[in-house]
Parts: sequence; C-alpha cells; structure tokens
Amino acid sequence: MKKVYIETYGCQMNVADTEVVFSLLGKEGYVRTEEMGEADVILANTCSVRDNAEQRIWGRIEQFQFQRRTRPGVLVGILGCMAERLKDALLESGKVDVVAGPDAYRSLPRLLAAASQGHPQIDVLLSRDETYGDIAPVRVDTNGVSAFISIMRGCNNVCSYCVVPYTRGAERSRDAHSIVREACECAQRGYREITLLGQNVDSYRWEDLDFAGLLALVAESVPALRIRFSTSNPQDISDAVLETMASHDNICRHIHLPVQSGSDRMLEKMRRRYTREGYLERVAKIRALMPDCAITTDVIAGFCSETEEDHRDTLSLFGTVGFDAAFMFQYSERPGTLAARKYPDDVPPEVKTRRLEEIIALQNRLSLESNRRDVGKTFRVLVEGPSKRNPAELCGRNSQNKMCVWPDTVHRAGDFVDVTVKDCTQATLLCELFRIFVE
Ligand code: SAH
Ligand code: SF4
Ligand code: F3S
Repeated sequence: MKKVYIETYGCQMNVADTEVVFSLLGKEGYVRTEEMGEADVILANTCSVRDNAEQRIWGRIEQFQFQRRTRPGVLVGILGCMAERLKDALLESGKVDVVAGPDAYRSLPRLLAAASQGHPQIDVLLSRDETYGDIAPVRVDTNGVSAFISIMRGCNNVCSYCVVPYTRGAERSRDAHSIVREACECAQRGYREITLLGQNVDSYRWEDLDFAGLLALVAESVPALRIRFSTSNPQDISDAVLETMASHDNICRHIHLPVQSGSDRMLEKMRRRYTREGYLERVAKIRALMPDCAITTDVIAGFCSETEEDHRDTLSLFGTVGFDAAFMFQYSERPGTLAARKYPDDVPPEVKTRRLEEIIALQNRLSLESNRRDVGKTFRVLVEGPSKRNPAELCGRNSQNKMCVWPDTVHRAGDFVDVTVKDCTQATLLCELFRIFVE
C-alpha cells in the first residue's frame, strides 16, 4: 500500500479539495500519512492568490527535494491553483513529478502511476462541469466537529486583481441532492457544524434552486447542525438569503462580506460591481434583519493608483461599519489578470505597507470594541476542544464565529454549551459556563 502525504495551502476550498483527493486516491489503495518522511507520494495543494503564497510553496518544493534525493521512488506532485497557473513551468523546474490542476484530480491515480515509470505528468485541463459531487470527501480535520462542503467551483467574476477565475475556471454549481446527502452524512457521522463553500456562494444556481433556497433546504435537512457559508459577494447577497438566515436558528449569525476598498474609484477599477453606498446598504439590511449578526471582511491596500484619499475612504468605511474581524492584504500583482495587463502596479511597497499597517491598527481597535460589546452576554458555543494555552480550558466558537475560551473539565468536543462573556482580548472572548442558579 502506498502512503500519501498532502500539505494544503490557500483557502478553505483547497482544504475541501484535499479531502476529495484523499478520497479519490483512497479508492486506488493509497493510505494517508501525516509523516512526510514515510510517504511514497508527497503532494502540495497550492495557492496563487498573492506572490508570497507562491514563494512559500517554492520554498517547500525545495525542501521536498531532500526526500526525492534520499528516497528514490518518492514522487512529488503539485496540485491546485499554482499547478493551474504555472503549468509546464513547474515540470520544467525538474523538481516535481506530477502537476494536476483543480479539475484534474480524477486523473491523479493515472498520473502518479505513469510518473512512477519515470515520466513526469501534467493535467491542467479546466472543466465546465466537474464538481466532484459524487465523491465522498475523507475529512482530514482532526476535531471531528466541523466539516466543509463545497457547493460550487470556479468563479465567473473578473475582479481585475484576482487570479482565481484563471486558476479555477468557470463557475459551476453542484447538484443540490448531493449537497444535502453530504450534509446528512456529516450529521450521521457526528459532525455538529458544516460550512458551505464557494468563491461566490450567492450566485449558486442548480435548476430552479438559488442560494437562499439551498440554504433553507440544507438548514431544514440537518436541523441539529449549525450551518455556515463563505464567501458572499456584496453584489450578489440577496434579501432572500438574509431572510432565510433570519428565519433559521441553525444558520450562524455571521457573514463574510469582502469589501476590498472603501473608495468607489478603486472599486470600479477592481471591477467589483457595487459601490461604497451599495455596500453600506447591504450592511444596514443585514443589521436590520439580524442585529446580532457579525460581519467580517477582506481588504486590499495599495491597489493600482490608490491615493491617500482612496485609502482614507477605506479607513472611514471600516470605522463606519465597525467590522468584527478582517483579513487584510497588500496588493500583489498577479500575471495575466486584467489589472496586470491594464494598470501599473504603482503604489510604492513602503506606502502599501504603511497603509496596510494603518488598516490593521484600526481593525485591531474595532475587533476589541466588538468583543467588549459582548461582555456580559451569553452565547451558545460549539466546543472544539481544549484551548491552546490552558488544558483546563475549552475553546469553541459562537454563532458569530468569535473564539470563546472558558474553564471547563466536563464538556467535550462536539457539545453545545452556554457561556457568559466575562472579559475579552482583541481576538478572544473570555467566558465562564452559564449558570442558571445564583450561587
Ligand atoms: N471569492 C472571494 C475572494 C477569494 S480570494 C471574494 O470575492 O470575496 C481572498 C481574498 O484575497 C480576496 O477577498 C482579496 O481580498 C484577496 N486578494 C485576491 N487577489 C489579491 C491580490 N492580487 N493581491 C492581494 N490580495 C488579493
Ligand atoms: Fe476573485 Fe472576484 Fe471571483 Fe472573488 S469574486 S474569486 S475576488 S474574481
Ligand atoms: Fe488560493 Fe486558489 Fe483559494 S488561488 S485563495 S487556493 S482558490
């Protein structure tokens, strides 16, 4: 039996894909190992979204060479977005045996078999209809509490900075029956939470079913599970989705709503199809329907031609919304994208860094303020396991996706527990078990 080791980089979609790859290889007799040193096949499922993501993977490819040199027969394969973007260039490096893009995983057993005969293999064909809908993923997360379910692949937007449409191909939605079936299987296996994944979940459409319909269907099919979803594009998140959330207690009160910039001039150049005002209108609607809903975001500092005024617009938008958390990045030009072809990457690196630092400093304050507002509140949390810092404490997330920790030697991973927030840091709610009786 051959052993396969996979490292996963990038977004949650890649985590879900790695689970599909384990399943596809498992059917061919491969077994999973967590020890690179004993693997016959070493795979990296990669990300191309920013240059530093790719640089990190090149570094890992160098480290894989030691295994290849010292243990003849070991195969190194690159999967995912970087495989799709760099194609032959990866093979030409002489450092990898197999290159397989995101839609080519069914070919992996064949590619590995051929590569083991000494012929490097590549398959980077993108598909119009591949969704791996029939593949039961082999869950690789260790907590056994929370599972990802991919509901669509690819992306039909052309945000000018973004490489994803090139690496993942055209958007396609997965058969709703197979999604519901997978959700039910998760419930049967003891999972307590599922996250529906897509680059743009709000444009899900399968036959007559849109995302609001799918969300309701899943929530009602597995009433004992908590449902999350990601990512929502501000241009597409509909009132129907918000109303579905509001009317189902098991859909978590959290929306990840990437804004990218607070300046209309930048949004237009980024080809995001909403304005600052439109974004704020969506935020207002979310809060009107669900006052307790957390809103988090992604932002890019230093996109092409960004001025200080544009940057101040981003800061002011952050202040206005008061995000609960954010992922914050410096613009990284990606070859082949519209921005790379059309607009000079002209904000100096030190300016990008300074602007990013300003956004981070502001968000740190906003995150702390958001957490302080929760002190005194009681939340139902899903126990993930012992907290990292203190084995006498458990940790888990509330519906708003905030990390909670509390002293507890009774409950276990997978339990739902009510906790009251006593204090907080910028990243964590410090809680204690909720008590009904006053002692
Ligand atoms: N589909 C999601 C985003 C996926 S990429 C959406 O539309 O929101 C995740 C995040 O990476 C993006 O939201 C963006 O903030 C960031 N990102 C994408 N391309 C980037 C680039 N070229 N440079 C810097 N950050 C980028
Ligand atoms: Fe990239 Fe835009 Fe598609 Fe998100 S919606 S994956 S940012 S092109
Ligand atoms: Fe990266 Fe590909 Fe995801 S580029 S962010 S792994 S879709």
